[in-house]
Amino acid sequence: MVGKGTMPSSEKPIEDLPAALRDAHPELEAVREAASDPVYLVGGAVRDLLLGQPRADVDLVVEGDAAALAARLGADAVEHERFGTVKVELDGHEVDIAAARTETYDRPGALPAVEPADTVEADLARRDFTINAMAIPLASEAGLIDPHGGREDLDRGLIRVLHPGSFVDDPTRAIRAARYAARFGFSLEPETERLLREANLGAVSVDRQRAELERLAREAAGPLGLAFLSEWGLIEPRDGGIELATRVAKLLSSPPWREVADRADAVLAAALGPVGREAELAVAQPDMPSRAVELAGAHGAIELVLARALGAEWLDRYLEEWQGVRLAIDGDDLIAAGVPQGPAVGRGLAAALRAKLDGETRNRDEELARALAAARET
Ligand code: CTP
Repeated sequence: MVGKGTMPSSEKPIEDLPAALRDAHPELEAVREAASDPVYLVGGAVRDLLLGQPRADVDLVVEGDAAALAARLGADAVEHERFGTVKVELDGHEVDIAAARTETYDRPGALPAVEPADTVEADLARRDFTINAMAIPLASEAGLIDPHGGREDLDRGLIRVLHPGSFVDDPTRAIRAARYAARFGFSLEPETERLLREANLGAVSVDRQRAELERLAREAAGPLGLAFLSEWGLIEPRDGGIELATRVAKLLSSPPWREVADRADAVLAAALGPVGREAELAVAQPDMPSRAVELAGAHGAIELVLARALGAEWLDRYLEEWQGVRLAIDGDDLIAAGVPQGPAVGRGLAAALRAKLDGETRNRDEELARALAAARET
C-alpha cells in the first residue's frame, strides 16, 4: 500500500507533464498523429501518471467521433458497451477511446442516460472522484485540465466527490472509494464521507454490486477496502470475516493455493459468507491420508481455502501430495481378473487407492491384490 508520505506526486512533482506522458505512454504517439479532433488522456491513467505509477491500459476521450479516430488509427477496433466506445490495441497496449459525453441518472442506481458532450470538461464533470476527473491533452503542451482540484486532492491523499448527488446517482462509487482508499492509503474528505455513509447499495442490481466488490477483492489491499466498507456501514461482514479475508488473500497470493480458487470469490466468501462447512473441516484432524482425501474431497474449492486459512495445515499436504495420488491399475484390470462390471469395480479401486494413500501398497501387484479383495467382498 502506498502511504501518503511516499506519494511521488507530493515529493517530486512532475514539472513537464506532456514529456512525462510521452515517456509513460509512447504508444499514444500514433493517436497524436492520427487525430483530427482534440484527444485527451483521462481518468485513472492521468491519476496514475501523476502518482508516478505506470499502468498498461489507458482511457482517451475525443471531442469528436471515437470510431472514426479508431479507423484512422488502422487498429483492430472492437466496439463495446452500450455507449459506443471503442477499444484498440496499440503496440500491445489496450486503449479505450470514447467520445466526450455526459450522463444523467433517471433514478438512483439506474444505468445512466448518455448524451454526447462538446467538451472534455463536460465529460470530466460526470465522473466519480476529483482524482479521477482530470485530463491531459495529447497534442498540445497545455498540461493538466483539472477543473475539480484533483491534483491537490491527490497530493493530500483525499477522495472527494464532485457533487453531493454522486453516490445517489451511482452507489457503486462507494465501493470504488474503498478500493482507492485501500490501494493508495487515501482518506475520504469529510463531506464525501458523510454522503458515502448515506449511500444505498441496495439501489443497484446485485450483479453490479457484486462486480464492483469483485474488483475490490481482486486487489492486493482488497481486505482493507472491505474493512473500510464495513466501518462505513455499507457491508456487514460475517464474524471475524475481515481477518479471515486477509488470511485468504495472503494464502491465494502464491502457489499452490493460488490455483485452487478465484481470488475475488474466496476473499468475498471469507468476508461476507455465506458460511459453508469450512469450520468443520478446519477442526477435523484426519489420522490417515485416505481419511484426509475423503474429507477434503467432500468440500468445494472455496471451503478448502477457507478451512486452510482457518488453520487446517494438513490441507497443504492434501493439495500437494495426496490429491494427486493415482493407481497404476484401472477398472479394466479388475474386469480382466474376473470382477463383473458394476459397483464392485468402483469399490475395489477405491479400496486400493485408500491403501496406496496410507502406504499399505508398494507396487502394481499389491494394488491389484487389494482391489480384488475388496471387489470380492460382499
Ligand atoms: N468512472 C466514474 N464512475 C464510475 C466508474 C467509472 O466516474 N462508477 C470514471 C472515473 O473517472 C474512472 C474512469 O471512469 O477514472 C474509468 O473507470 P475504471 O476503469 O473503472 O477506473 P480507473 O480509474 O481506470 O481505475 P483503475 O485504476 O482501478 O483501473
